[in-house]
Amino acid sequence: MSIQETKVKELLEKRKVAKLGGGEKRIESQHNKGKFTARERIDMLLDEGSFEEFDMFVSHRCLDFGLDKESYLSDGVVTGYGTIDGRLVYIYAQDFTTFGGSLSETNAAKICKVMDKAMKVGAPVIGINDSGGARIQEGVKSLSGYGEIFQRNIMASGVIPQISAIFGPCAGGAVYSPALTDFIIMTKEKSYMFVTGPKVVKTVTGESVTDEQLGGASVHGSKSGVTHFVAEDEKEGILLIRKLLSYLPQNNLEDPPLSNCLDPIDRMEESLNTIIPDSPNKPYDVKKVIEATVDYGEFLEIQRHYAPNVITGFSRFNGMPVGIVANQPSYLAGVLDINASRKAARFVRFCDAFNIPIVTFVDVPGFLPGTSQEYGGIIIHGAKLLFAYGEATVPKITVILRKDYGGAYLVMSSKHLRGDINYSWPSAEIAVMGPKGAIEVLFQKELKSIEDPAERTAFIAQKEEEYVTKFATPYSAAKYGFIDDVIQPQNTRFRIIRALQSLATKKDSNPPKKHSNIPL
Ligand code: HXC
Repeated sequence: MSIQETKVKELLEKRKVAKLGGGEKRIESQHNKGKFTARERIDMLLDEGSFEEFDMFVSHRCLDFGLDKESYLSDGVVTGYGTIDGRLVYIYAQDFTTFGGSLSETNAAKICKVMDKAMKVGAPVIGINDSGGARIQEGVKSLSGYGEIFQRNIMASGVIPQISAIFGPCAGGAVYSPALTDFIIMTKEKSYMFVTGPKVVKTVTGESVTDEQLGGASVHGSKSGVTHFVAEDEKEGILLIRKLLSYLPQNNLEDPPLSNCLDPIDRMEESLNTIIPDSPNKPYDVKKVIEATVDYGEFLEIQRHYAPNVITGFSRFNGMPVGIVANQPSYLAGVLDINASRKAARFVRFCDAFNIPIVTFVDVPGFLPGTSQEYGGIIIHGAKLLFAYGEATVPKITVILRKDYGGAYLVMSSKHLRGDINYSWPSAEIAVMGPKGAIEVLFQKELKSIEDPAERTAFIAQKEEEYVTKFATPYSAAKYGFIDDVIQPQNTRFRIIRALQSLATKKDSNPPKKHSNIPL
């Protein structure tokens, strides 16, 4: 064997060792927990054979607490780049088999390296989290590593898409890196995120909770809204990442990727002509409107179980990716509350940052009244959505389906917030408030003077009818040009596609500034 051949053999041996991470026993233990290893996850996520790994031979430099005698190649994180559907992505996956995937100084430097490269070339970064947090033996060096990652997350925000998968523990300050990224995906019962774990919670507050109750996927998917997707398992989580990326541009200077569309652009949907119930208080499922209008009925919903009174997600119209925001009349009558406002505002800002047009379907009775909302700051949170729509410069198309009252009328991508094309169905009711409230305010004196209940009811009914005829229509708004056209529901798909085509070269901007001061 020549010297060179010997060296190549040595290299291959080293690679074999590195690929074993913390060793076979720990890999087995990872599998026994129903989890894949970092390298297996990368292989599943990326196009076959596309992964190019960096820093396989990195190891830690710590000499304390016995670490001078324990060291593994790759040091607990696998990093590099590859492709998804042929498009470049940078990736890091924490390797729980090596020191519990804990973050060391060198391991953080590996993560920062891929983030820096992704920023230079303008490609998304995907982080797969499965870690015991800061490498305890390294102390403040590990903390500094987190700081370096956070700073890069912040600088990359709005420049390249950042996606975090949580496939195991993610605790302490470590949660803030995923929180700074655009989308979080958690797996059911195998992942958790919390700032302080159950033991500390018990000591400080006396509360007894499990990992799952405190920070499992179900909690963050429905109560806190921290995670955008809850996957059954890692395989589903990985498919979700691939699907999500198919709607996104590589960076903020590119347009989202167009795909071929065989769904006819002039497909009429007669079912939409009868979807609005006769009674204004009766709900219907706005997802049926979305699915009937978008290409092939495909809709990738985001934060499905959190604030379901507003729906957010990605679809395509004639192959063009769009972000969809829709009030959901079948949950809390589609009212805007704190959580719904925050959810929709963040989504609108994401779409705007990445040149994704926004299509808004409106059926909203207004903002949720009451002390819990006022004490919780609905004024500030509602303002977030108002701000996000008003600041957005991407094409904005609005279709008012039914109710559109008061402040909510303005907030939901109205003409007055630079809505580009605002349509309404003939069933739209655009007014300062709903008929009931309006009559009570306008006719307080008359109502007080009517003592007979039957007479009172008849009076209210008559005035409500007058109000509905005069105001609860799209034509009062159309009269002033606040609505560009009243359209037939069955033609909604075609009209949206035409509107998007007409706006393909839209240019709009905001005044020069360091940054805005969105009400946080
Ligand atoms: C070094 C760690 C580690 C850590 C786990 N390990 N966490 N090594 N630093 N933070 C090692 C374990 O010693 C063990 O090594 C291996 O990883 C697997 O851990 P187990 O405990 O056997 O696994 P499991 O039972 O599944 O429990 C996982 C765990 C637990 C819940 C994550 O390991 C744990 O509680 N770890 C400590 C978590 C923590 O307090 N981290 C600091 C948080 S504060 P062997 O050799 O046996 O395989 C923080 C601040 C960040 O992160 C601040 C950023 C601003």
